[in-house]
Amino acid sequence: MRLKGKVALVTGGTRGIGNALVRKLAAERAAVGFTYLKHEDLARELEESVRKNGGQVFGMKADVRNAAEVNAFVSHAVSQFGRIDLVINNAHQAYEAKFFEDATWEDFQREIDQLVKGPFNMIQAALPHLKKCRGSIINIGSTMARAPRFKHSFYVTAKRALYGLTEALALELGKHGIRVNMVTPGPLNTEHNASHPAERMKKFGEETPLNNRIGTPEEVADAIILLALEEARLITGADVLASGGFAIA
Ligand SMILES: NC(=O)c1ccc[n+]([C@@H]2O[C@H](COP(=O)([O-])OP(=O)(O)OC[C@H]3O[C@@H](n4cnc5c(N)ncnc54)[C@H](OP(=O)(O)O)[C@@H]3O)[C@@H](O)[C@H]2O)c1
Repeated sequence: MRLKGKVALVTGGTRGIGNALVRKLAAERAAVGFTYLKHEDLARELEESVRKNGGQVFGMKADVRNAAEVNAFVSHAVSQFGRIDLVINNAHQAYEAKFFEDATWEDFQREIDQLVKGPFNMIQAALPHLKKCRGSIINIGSTMARAPRFKHSFYVTAKRALYGLTEALALELGKHGIRVNMVTPGPLNTEHNASHPAERMKKFGEETPLNNRIGTPEEVADAIILLALEEARLITGADVLASGGFAIA
């Protein structure tokens, strides 16, 4: 019940981290709005499951790259719940890994559109409401951006831009009482990594200092919730590494 009376918006709620997060926010008694791109069926299932447990939730198809769709999502949330306290920029579609030499500008533009333009659209739309509630923004990073690996130059570039945006906004929005932070997950068994062979995921576990296993979407969602709590009121501009120590350097 730690978020009772709060309203949270999550981009990409149907699967992976977003799905775990919507459930946990609702269990903490926040009212939750989430976006999805393709999986209407999963959105309805998630709504049903949260409501069965007494939670308040709605899911809406809204492509984060499209400002009009994001504005409609935010307007709907305000009409349903009356306020916005928390925005979590999480949405992202899996991609085919490629060496830079084989990548095109379209690969870079696709990642920039999802990981920079998406959060830009969400924050611009929610800002007037976040100001009223002295709210909080949490952007989802990646250990891949902190410690790049081969074949992900476009993803690394776009995620790093999101770290920059986070710090710049922590500076600018502080005067409104708005906190802006990152949570950085390590590799997880979600659709994002569906193309990785099981052997590679096992190796990621072996490279993880804490308990020699990769994390779960639920554990990353728990780290996001911690940053959303009143107890985190002095924390802004931070990057919280929620990876079991994977890519600590
Ligand atoms: N999984 C990992 O190993 C890992 C590691 C580090 C960081 N991350 C980061 O964590 C975040 C979540 O990753 P995940 O693995 O949980 O993802 P996921 O399981 O692939 O789920 C992605 C979610 O985003 C939604 N989505 C995709 N594109 C969208 C768009 N343009 N507009 C609105 N919604 C959109 C999808 O909706 P549909 O279901 O409708 O397609 C889905 O709900 C991402 O920012 C990712 O970069 C992931």
